[in-house]
Amino acid sequence: MLALYTGRAQAVDMNAFRNLNRPVAQAFDKEIIKVEKFVITGGKPLHGEVTISGAKNAAVGILPATILAADVCVIENLPDISDVAVSLKILSTLGAQVKMLNRNTYEIDTTHLTGTNVPDDLSRQMRASYYFLGALLSRFGRAQVAMPGGCNLGPRPIDQHLKVFSALGAEDSVDYGMITVRAKELNGAHIFFDKVSVGATMNGMLSAVMAKGQTILENCAKEPHVVDLANFLNMCGADVRGAGTDVIKVRGVEKLHGCTYSIIPDQIEAGSYMVAAATGGDVLIKNVTPKHLEPITAKLRRAGAEVEEFDDAVRVRRTGDILPLKINTMPHPGFPTDMQPLMGVLLSVAKGTSTVTESVWDNRFRYVDELRKMGASVQVDGQVAVFEGVEKLSPAPLRALDLRAGAAMVVAALMADGTSEIEEIGHIERGYENIVEKLRGLGADISKVDRVPAALEQAL
Ligand code: EPU
Repeated sequence: MLALYTGRAQAVDMNAFRNLNRPVAQAFDKEIIKVEKFVITGGKPLHGEVTISGAKNAAVGILPATILAADVCVIENLPDISDVAVSLKILSTLGAQVKMLNRNTYEIDTTHLTGTNVPDDLSRQMRASYYFLGALLSRFGRAQVAMPGGCNLGPRPIDQHLKVFSALGAEDSVDYGMITVRAKELNGAHIFFDKVSVGATMNGMLSAVMAKGQTILENCAKEPHVVDLANFLNMCGADVRGAGTDVIKVRGVEKLHGCTYSIIPDQIEAGSYMVAAATGGDVLIKNVTPKHLEPITAKLRRAGAEVEEFDDAVRVRRTGDILPLKINTMPHPGFPTDMQPLMGVLLSVAKGTSTVTESVWDNRFRYVDELRKMGASVQVDGQVAVFEGVEKLSPAPLRALDLRAGAAMVVAALMADGTSEIEEIGHIERGYENIVEKLRGLGADISKVDRVPAALEQAL
């Protein structure tokens, strides 16, 4: 039962309410992202242990890749987040049998999957729906997906994805926001990406695994999730070599088969808890791959945090001042753009002036306006933000403008003495499993509150 508490402390069973007052219930459903919020009382250093979940950006590539197996796959260490729920829903809508084995493990049987059109409303809910283009094209020679949604980080073209499909022999068309790709057959090709793109590199592998002959992808993205997708495809019988370097070679095979695969730990979720710990505290962050965290570890050490590395954990501590930094976001192994808003929050209270250059996305400083509400001093000029460290942040009403901007606001609220509220937290829940419970486990004062919209309150 979805129970909500009104201002009169009255529990409402939404399912029963839906039958009584359909229009208001529908309005409520549409508004749900706006009415839930986090209430955080900051100023308490974090202490203890936190376990990192599976990587979102690997999961959203590997789930569509199960289509290629035309068989049963068991995927372990799937993060319990809304982007994964949407991917699973798309798979079952297309005809896959999806069975939950436990909260983080799903059995997916794509043997009888026949659908090639991803429903509009589902594909618009996340950026990564573009991986269904590559996977469906590869298996069926046809796919239709709505122009993907996801975070608003500036223009998010997919020309490099279409470049691969076209080089392999597919035709594409875009009509009323729907992208259709079709091919009679796919033949291996040599593609040089004009821009390093995670999505285009992963779609390149997905579309080439069963093409005739060899495909060479050059100027590839090298992120850990690119390697994870290649490892999954190889476990299913594909021949993909070189993932994690600039050049990936894919030799097409006749068919793939199912496998059991465990997703790598989430680099950015781990990095987010590392920054939260570096604001002051002592946290052991478990189930991580320290190698994937090196660009983050290096910057945090320069900022004055102590980072101790173990086989599959890192411990982050800070007691002294936060030191200013120069950061320039770059594709892996450079400093990840997804960590930029989180580091920005840390640098807003550094002892001195920091410079942050965003080189991947055109519009990733929107969170700065929220941070200014808390007293931060930041000047943004195009792709460069200059942070003049202030003594401390003050609590404020905040918005999660996108996934990582939202996570950054959580860390900012944890740093401020007093109570902040963060709205539009649906963005945060797209990528962070159990964030409230995990932070509470570290001693944070955070709760998730459902506020009933006025229209619903009046109708009750
Ligand atoms: N680009 C093009 N043409 C393309 C594709 C990309 O010009 O066809 C440009 C983009 O505009 C951008 C740059 O290339 O300037 C990099 O984009 P990329 O394709 O690498 O991004 P993406 O695959 O759409 C993934 C992550 C993002 C992360 C970026 C960069 C997923 C689902 N998303 O996006 O993650 O910021 O790589 O590392 O994997 C997040 O998790 O919060 C998030 C936004």
